[in-house]
Amino acid sequence: MKKIATLLAAFAAALSLQAQVKVTIHESAQNQPVIPAEIYGQFSEHLGRCIYEGIWVGPDSDIPNVNGYRTDVLEALKALKVPVLRWPGGCFADEYHWMDGIGPRENRPKLVNNNWGGTVEDNSFGTHEFLNLCEMLGTQPYISGNVGSGTVEEMAKWVEYMTAENGTMAELRAKNGRKEPWKVKYLGVGNESWGCGGDMTPDYYSDVYKRYALYSRNYSGNRLFKVACGASDYDYNWTRVMMKNAASKMDGLSLHYYTCKGSALDFTAEEYYNTLAKSVEVDEVLRNHEAIMDAYDPQRRVALLLDEWGTWFDSEPGFNPGHLYQQNSMRDAMVAALSLNIFNKHTARLKMANIAQVVNVLQAMVLTKGPQMLLTPTYHVFRMYNVHQGATAVPAEYECGHLVSQEGRIMDKFSASASRDASGALHVSLANPVLDKPVTVELSFDALKAKTVSGEILTAPDVHAFNDFGKEPAVKPAAFTGAKVSGGKVKVTLPAASVVVLEIK
Ligand code: AHR
Repeated sequence: MKKIATLLAAFAAALSLQAQVKVTIHESAQNQPVIPAEIYGQFSEHLGRCIYEGIWVGPDSDIPNVNGYRTDVLEALKALKVPVLRWPGGCFADEYHWMDGIGPRENRPKLVNNNWGGTVEDNSFGTHEFLNLCEMLGTQPYISGNVGSGTVEEMAKWVEYMTAENGTMAELRAKNGRKEPWKVKYLGVGNESWGCGGDMTPDYYSDVYKRYALYSRNYSGNRLFKVACGASDYDYNWTRVMMKNAASKMDGLSLHYYTCKGSALDFTAEEYYNTLAKSVEVDEVLRNHEAIMDAYDPQRRVALLLDEWGTWFDSEPGFNPGHLYQQNSMRDAMVAALSLNIFNKHTARLKMANIAQVVNVLQAMVLTKGPQMLLTPTYHVFRMYNVHQGATAVPAEYECGHLVSQEGRIMDKFSASASRDASGALHVSLANPVLDKPVTVELSFDALKAKTVSGEILTAPDVHAFNDFGKEPAVKPAAFTGAKVSGGKVKVTLPAASVVVLEIK
């Protein structure tokens, strides 16, 4: 008798541990925004081993390569469907002189990467190498121009060199092996101009911005989308001044938001929630910047571009701290999933986001070690979520519990977003950030009677799990069997600390 009572009590306790969330998917909602593919954008900077070794090994390398680009990374990025790639920085951009990176590689001058560890670079990866890479990946280039230490003329000529059909710059480009101009839409006019990009005030920078933007011309049918340098985190004054002084001269305004602190792999449960809670605070930060932009631009003509975001942990021991190399665990995957679910809901104003950085730096998609390459947990989230690229947003309404991080931030215990693609398939991405409890989710719909559900899950027995060189991947997606259709609804059990993307028909 006592045994049965104990069992019943244990069962009741288990039930109470299982959180439940009801999600209403408003798939019939009209006039919903398209989720710009660019929200799933990437960032490549001359920083540590991102460009050299990570992307570019040169045609003479023993590492298998296609015309100097390492084959394994190229294939991994093709599979990711990278919609836009920002280059060459970051802080590097404001010390980069593009003319040093064209012409025969053996003649290019060396540079000292002053921002990032003082590494000497040989300029073998320049404008041609970057823009050709974008063509190979089918990705849009986003050029970040030098305002801090460059000149208006230098930026104007760079634009002409890349995009003009005729003239001196076009002739120089042809002499360097490229007759046809490239298509370049996105032009960043400076990076972090309040800091490493020139240490300016917003009033001063807004005038500087207008001067550089004016002389960056549209050539040969190429239409530039000019992005003014925006704020970091909670600097709402920068956004306000830029919108007041220069909104009519810009197509977009940028924003940077990082989740910093601590070791990438060695963290407590409290630190796990601190990281997640800081990362989801981006929702409020975006809302606040958007509200300021709305006041100056109610038609929402000017886009907001979160052109740097992600986790920024301590550099891995044994690596040059100036190279910002960090490992990537299931915690990073959770940050990516929660952040992307948020970005999917801000698309009325947010038109691009670029996680930092694509290879070997901060919250990278892939890591390399000599000839080896691995896919990070963050890569898998981006690959699973790429169903949302260019799809129509579908509102997903739910109420869930909250938790308060040790640092006092409040975060939801559950996260979801949804979209419908051109074929009519509905995709719902779900995340359960809670470390020790599964969540049962019931998805119901406005009108749809669900017939089939399939999906993928990313989880690991331990949230510290990461993929390491020479070992079987500890974090990789698997077919998801925890979703069932019942009476036109979908019932899902999400394990603790898991990310799931469903396709529902
Ligand atoms: O991503 C690393 C650095 O962070 C970038 O170079 C800079 O723009 C930001 O401060």
